[in-house]
Amino acid sequence: MNVMTKPDTAARPTIAAPALVPGGIPKPALMTVEQAKAMDVARLTDLFKAHLNPGQLHFMKLLGFHKIKIERAEGMYYVDQNGRKILDFFGGFGSLAFGHNHPRILEARKKFQEEKRQEIAIAFMSQYATALAYNIAQCSPGDLDMVFLGSSGSEAMEAAVKVAERAAGPKRPKIVYAENSFHGKTKGVLAITDGSLYRAEFKMADNTVRVPFGDIDAIERAFRSDPEIGVIVLETVQGGGGIIQAPAEFWQKLRALCDRYGVLWVADEVQCGYGRTGRFYAFEHYGVVPDVTALAKSLGAGKAAVGAMIARRDVYMKAYGTPKTAMIHAMATFGGIGEACVTAIEGLNVLYDEHLIDNSADTGAYLLERLKAVQAKHPKIIKDVRGKGFMIGLEFHDFSQTLPMVLRPVVSVLDDKLKGSLSGFVGSLLLRDYDVLVAFTEYNRNVIRLEPPLICGREHVDRFVEALDSLLSRGIVSIVKDFVKSQMN
Ligand SMILES: Cc1ncc(COP(=O)(O)O)c(C=O)c1O
Repeated sequence: MNVMTKPDTAARPTIAAPALVPGGIPKPALMTVEQAKAMDVARLTDLFKAHLNPGQLHFMKLLGFHKIKIERAEGMYYVDQNGRKILDFFGGFGSLAFGHNHPRILEARKKFQEEKRQEIAIAFMSQYATALAYNIAQCSPGDLDMVFLGSSGSEAMEAAVKVAERAAGPKRPKIVYAENSFHGKTKGVLAITDGSLYRAEFKMADNTVRVPFGDIDAIERAFRSDPEIGVIVLETVQGGGGIIQAPAEFWQKLRALCDRYGVLWVADEVQCGYGRTGRFYAFEHYGVVPDVTALAKSLGAGKAAVGAMIARRDVYMKAYGTPKTAMIHAMATFGGIGEACVTAIEGLNVLYDEHLIDNSADTGAYLLERLKAVQAKHPKIIKDVRGKGFMIGLEFHDFSQTLPMVLRPVVSVLDDKLKGSLSGFVGSLLLRDYDVLVAFTEYNRNVIRLEPPLICGREHVDRFVEALDSLLSRGIVSIVKDFVKSQMN
């Protein structure tokens, strides 16, 4: 394939405006869609390094992911350049409720394109954005009726925090967030995302108060001692923290505390919502309704970038309910874009038509039960198995202090991220030897996250559990040796 890369401009920091030439401005050496599809792994690696993220490639290499180019994806599987089918228990961190390329989603998009429908929803009212907002309100309990549409989880959470902050008013500007929280990496929500790596060297908003996750007493102390607190933001199940659930009684108490102190509760359901835990929203397990919530990931049905903020009507009206305030946080250029909305509308219909939330509850419980049996068989390797529905965390013991002496020098030369952590080794070998993909966890390197598509059946669970059991049966020493050997190839 003949694609030129740009000349090195470092030597000439100022560039003259291109002269207009007869025949028009010449086309740069652009790649076509067909050339993009046909790229081989070596070329892909070079261009990824040159133009996307060289540092990320380092981690892909550690785990052996860099040798793989996905050609197709269907249902529960990716298919790589060699025709190998990879079972997807990663599910794009919860973005693939319907698996890959669900036929009804593809059909809805194809029809929309063939009918040449309008896309940008700014000048005129969009029937697609309106129908999607209506559908989301139908799926949402209480008066969670008002919807803002954007194109990512971070954007949905930015909207959620902003609507709550405005509704709380200028005398209550402080926002409580939790330890080990993850709400996105855009500048605003970074201030309530607890990852020091993500925040380092950025100036954060200073109106935030951090509390331990699930600690109702700490929250009450904060509310009581600081009348400026107006908002609390919590993931209902912490994903990046390692699939952490608060005690069941926490949520009722939180609702009562928020009502007593007049604090608005924002529930981040970007990862745990959309049926993942066996209810449409995870907070529905606890019989409570927040003031504001947010969805993204699977809302786009695996084909479109859609995020939504959903607010109680009175909260929304307080923030943006007049003509003067209506545009303060409205009109994201791509929010409510036609094909994305149609994708999301069809997705919500498929979610209920195919009983995928029920499947998440039932088959998720089966997965949890089978994993507990694997834990009982390998108690020295697996420390904990937890979660709800298809949002499950598998925590390994930290072996940094317990590794046999002979292996310590071998492991000590590995990347810092891998020391003391079995999850990298297990994830990498599951992919290499068993064609199974799992996810890692932002803040806890000992936890593997399992968030398969909600279409996952018992046969997929059986295949996954048998692969995991077989790998763990090798024992820690062999797992470490096999991983280290894989690094040499
Ligand atoms: C709970 C939660 N909130 C917000 C986000 C941000 O979503 P996005 O990556 O679409 O911006 C994520 C992403 O993983 C998430 O898990």
